[in-house]
Amino acid sequence: MSALPGSAPLPNPTSEPEPPWVTLPTDEELVLKVIPMPRDCNQNGDIFGGWVMAQVDLAGAVIPARYAGGRMATVAVNEFIFKQPVRVGDILSFFSKLVRIGRTSITVKVEVYAERFRAQGKYIKVTEALVTYVALDEQGRPRPVPGNSP
Ligand SMILES: CC(C)(COP(=O)(O)OP(=O)(O)OC[C@H]1O[C@@H](n2cnc3c(N)ncnc32)[C@H](O)[C@@H]1OP(=O)(O)O)[C@@H](O)C(=O)NCCC(=O)NCCS
Repeated sequence: MSALPGSAPLPNPTSEPEPPWVTLPTDEELVLKVIPMPRDCNQNGDIFGGWVMAQVDLAGAVIPARYAGGRMATVAVNEFIFKQPVRVGDILSFFSKLVRIGRTSITVKVEVYAERFRAQGKYIKVTEALVTYVALDEQGRPRPVPGNSP
């Protein structure tokens, strides 16, 4: 997120210690890879949280789209945690898995891992989220998920 005007600048990102490396999840599916560009940064060189949220919304829709069988929309972001900052040039990998299929809704977990551009193959967990999508009819009303009607 943006720093407040007049606030002290953050330390040079390249001099910050790296957090512990983690291993990638084996029970989740890789649904998106993307590299943030300078236009996605705030004045401190960190990536805007809103940009990350938009990517999570896109990535999170991949698995629900398999079940919805048509139009759907995001109804809720039930949890969103920015665990570590994202840097310009990071290679971001979005992993997702199904959490719940309701009558009209589908909830997924999304985890985001960053490879620093100069440390590829080493992963930092930067974000995790829980997002719910709803299957919609032509009028934009909730519609039962196919095969999941009572
Ligand atoms: C999606 C929308 C049609 C749902 O309408 P609604 O009248 O709230 O519908 P319901 O209350 O029947 O809820 C529909 C489903 O969403 C689930 N839901 C609603 N709010 C939720 C929340 N905060 N967290 C998790 N699930 C939620 C309900 O449990 C229900 O799922 P189920 O049928 O599997 O039990 C309506 O809220 C809408 O159009 N929202 C805007 C969607 C949009 O534009 N998204 C893009 C963001 S700009």
